[in-house]
Amino acid sequence: MTLSPAAPPPQRIPVRTPSADYVVEIGAGSSARLASLLDGLHAPARRFLVSSPPIWRLHGAAFEPLTSEKPILIPDGERHKQVSTVGRIYDALIRAGADRATTIIAVGGGVVGDVAGFAAATFLRGVPVVQVPTTLLAQVDSAIGGKVGVNHALGKNLIGAFHQPIGVLVDPELLSTLPRREFRAGLYEVVKYGVIASRPLFDRLTSSLPAIFKRDPALLADVIGESCRIKAVVVSADEREAGPRRALNFGHTIGHALEALTKYKRFRHGEAVAYGMLAASELAVGRGALSAPDRDALRDLITRMGPLPAVTDLSAGEAVEAAGRDKKVVGGRLHFVLPTAIGTTTTVTDVSEDELRRATEAIGLRG
Ligand SMILES: NC(=O)c1ccc[n+]([C@@H]2O[C@H](COP(=O)([O-])OP(=O)(O)OC[C@H]3O[C@@H](n4cnc5c(N)ncnc54)[C@H](O)[C@@H]3O)[C@@H](O)[C@H]2O)c1
Ligand SMILES: [Zn+2]
Repeated sequence: MTLSPAAPPPQRIPVRTPSADYVVEIGAGSSARLASLLDGLHAPARRFLVSSPPIWRLHGAAFEPLTSEKPILIPDGERHKQVSTVGRIYDALIRAGADRATTIIAVGGGVVGDVAGFAAATFLRGVPVVQVPTTLLAQVDSAIGGKVGVNHALGKNLIGAFHQPIGVLVDPELLSTLPRREFRAGLYEVVKYGVIASRPLFDRLTSSLPAIFKRDPALLADVIGESCRIKAVVVSADEREAGPRRALNFGHTIGHALEALTKYKRFRHGEAVAYGMLAASELAVGRGALSAPDRDALRDLITRMGPLPAVTDLSAGEAVEAAGRDKKVVGGRLHFVLPTAIGTTTTVTDVSEDELRRATEAIGLRG
């Protein structure tokens, strides 16, 4: 008798926060285990799947047998990440007679996760949510940590709550259908984790980039697992983003500025963060906080990952202004995350406008 090689057991990463403890389970093909996972979590019996039509067309069949409730499909995309979409989820729940013994299961990218999570945080003052992220960004970032919410016409993520999921199930096989640009956008956040906390992860990306782009499920489970572990540790230490969680903002000050300058149309979030990481590393080298070879290693990896949208038409001065309006300004001071080596960062509060301008010029913005 020959035994076929056993699939590696799923990784189980604990997240411990003052408000809740839960586990992120990661493994290729793990969505098939969702039913038993829900039972193991004692998830309340009325289970409502929330997703969007394009995701449901691709992956709904795998989840449909979980529940006899009709799936709640919300319109796809960032522009529908708004209060009225949350209202549609309430409508469906109320019409179906949902009560407190209800579990919401969010199957989708960051938008579905944030909207469904916010509905769960507020419906009947809070019902449990399970996150089943289907984009790389959601698998390594948005599904973990309990930040949920929606945009307002006057700004991104202005309305929200902290509502930790009761469980997170990450199946890298769901990424096989993800458009290449979305995949790459999520991968920049994985690069971020490498730079802020793990040289081995960074080296793994550097040495295995072609296999990662082929979406080898075992390799993806590895790098996603490592990313989730870093996010889980940071979130566990710092649920509400006071101290260590700030390192997760590496690349985001200038990244958010670029997104705002281009009205959230030109870049996928991760692409803007890629520029933000490059700018922050230039700034760090300028201060003698980071070595030139480490900056070059980051630049080479990002360059090998593929083209980024152009920035040469954007003004460095306007980017600096936009960075000053970012949420990371606390008491008039910009908290800026600087890499000090691949794998470590520090937060400084004395970055001058001049340094910011030079850093954005160094990545291609016009002076
Ligand atoms: N809560 C947090 O902590 C947190 C952290 C980071 C980002 N976010 C939020 O996440 C959102 C971005 O998330 P996103 O990048 O996942 O975008 P998204 O949810 O809009 O998904 C991107 C696109 O991919 C499609 N898609 C999703 N899964 C797919 C699959 N398996 N195959 C094919 N197509 C698929 C979606 O239909 C969508 O068109 C933003 O709103 C951002 O604010 C939240
Ligand atoms: Zn991000």
